[in-house]
Amino acid sequence: MTLTEMAVEVLTCADGREKTALSHRHAARWFEARDAGEEIEIGIGAPPDFPARPERPELRDPRDVPKRKPGSPEGRIALLHAVAHIELNAVDLHWDLIARFGHVPMPPGFYDDWVRAADEESKHFNLMADCLEAKGSFYGALPAHAGMWRAASDTAEDIFGRLAVVPMVLEARGLDVTPGMIALFTKAGDAGAVDALETIYAEEVGHVAYGSKWFHFLCGRDNRDPKPLFHDLVRRYFHSTLKPPFNDEKRAEAGLPPDFYWPLTEDSDHS
Ligand SMILES: [Fe+2]
Ligand SMILES: [Fe+2]
Repeated sequence: MTLTEMAVEVLTCADGREKTALSHRHAARWFEARDAGEEIEIGIGAPPDFPARPERPELRDPRDVPKRKPGSPEGRIALLHAVAHIELNAVDLHWDLIARFGHVPMPPGFYDDWVRAADEESKHFNLMADCLEAKGSFYGALPAHAGMWRAASDTAEDIFGRLAVVPMVLEARGLDVTPGMIALFTKAGDAGAVDALETIYAEEVGHVAYGSKWFHFLCGRDNRDPKPLFHDLVRRYFHSTLKPPFNDEKRAEAGLPPDFYWPLTEDSDHS
């Protein structure tokens, strides 16, 4: 199988546990081959417009997803459910990046990074699904956000836009909000959820870093100025302003300097 065929197989698998098992298996195969100096062809992929999804959760407009108090046990289940949904989407986002842009020649390190990221998202989904099950719930028990694939659809033709919006905006946002979630589960004495979220938090820094690294690589190759291009792409493809407070420390660690994101906040003069 080519790498894009593996990616398409993950994208067209609906069940969360099966999708992530397949994702782990293909990632292991890729790294085995890389370690053995064996070549897996990248190929040209034909990814679906939308990845396959299980029958449940029911997907709703975010305005119609009931809000629950984060301090209550139900609220914490809802929060873990929302994170599980984000992680499953992230598995598909990384495999879609591989499948959709197979025609853009990239060095092998590009595939190493995104296969690793997809592998880690698969672990993250299972960590969240395990936490939900430990609490008597499960992924699919609650309604979930319907608009998650929009960033992928909007940037299906533009690898620069995809890298700008997915890892460098959406995953960077994860770095901003995860410490607050860890604090909330710490306060609730939920060591299992804290451990899982700590793992996610540590690994997400890497995903943002891959985004920044490959965005800059492509800019260098095409002789484009990264910062103004990033601002243009986020304004074109991301349908909102960026919201502080930002986790400046982790963003910097991931190669995302403040002058990339501050000009995209509401209060900026967009200069
Ligand atoms: Fe993740
Ligand atoms: Fe991620």
